Amino acid sequence: MVSFPGSFDPLLPRAFSVCDVEGERISLLYVAVGKGTTRLSKLRPGDKVVMNGPLGNGFPDMRNGEKVWLAVGGSGAAILPILIVGAKNSGSSFRIFYGARTKSQLINFDYESTFYATDDGSAGYHGTVVELLKAELSREKPDKIFACGPTPMLVSMQKEMSNKVQIYLSVETPMACGIGLCQGCPVKKKGEPDYFLACKDGPVFDSREVELVKEKSAQ
Ligand SMILES: Cc1cc2nc3c(=O)[nH]c(=O)nc-3n(C[C@H](O)[C@H](O)[C@H](O)COP(=O)(O)OP(=O)(O)OC[C@H]3O[C@@H](n4cnc5c(N)ncnc54)[C@H](O)[C@@H]3O)c2cc1C
Ligand code: FES
Repeated sequence: MVSFPGSFDPLLPRAFSVCDVEGERISLLYVAVGKGTTRLSKLRPGDKVVMNGPLGNGFPDMRNGEKVWLAVGGSGAAILPILIVGAKNSGSSFRIFYGARTKSQLINFDYESTFYATDDGSAGYHGTVVELLKAELSREKPDKIFACGPTPMLVSMQKEMSNKVQIYLSVETPMACGIGLCQGCPVKKKGEPDYFLACKDGPVFDSREVELVKEKSAQ
């Protein structure tokens, strides 16, 4: 969770994935969509932010010989560097399915086995990353899919593929405290009247355990 010291603008800290780690240095990768991320984009070397973390869970450990597909959309691509280190260290094989609205929004990580999708067809498959995944799934099946991206992408994956393959979803539910106190990040438990908290029990959930609902805006 990232906020700005001595400032209440924005009021609430913003959630980010740990993108990469090198010694004592961590990297974040963000897309400037609003107040908090625009403020981040204006920081200069030496400026300070407040960071609280790491919080919550992560994707399950990958196992030697396992076939894992990584499906990311938009700023969900921030999880790729750290997951790929995990995949390589564990000896599992991976493929990346990476979607964006248009080519200029794709980050060139230069990873092998990457399949791109753009809504406007300017790079890779013409369509959504979920459509691309569905086409690939009709030919081949991985052991698991790890997914991170906007809620509509995760909702489609859950609806259209959960019965075919095990999927873990990293949800982008807006968060306030990040540590399970404010109850502000509920994720509905499937078939129960109860909720998980995205910040404490997640943000990664087995797609069969949750019912994703429309996201709320942060303050
Ligand atoms: C666990 C987790 C990990 C995340 N990791 C990353 C990351 O690594 N990189 C990254 O760029 N972003 C990440 N996000 C999303 C990031 O937290 C939001 O983009 C950020 O909070 C936006 O803040 P803002 O003040 O710039 O935008 P705001 O001014 O708060 O909002 C601008 C617009 O974005 C929408 N919005 C705000 N928060 C979210 C959200 N959480 N999800 C979807 N839409 C939202 C608002 O509804 C509004 O339309 C993550 C979110 C979560 C919950
Ligand atoms: S953000 Fe406060 S409980 Fe999850």
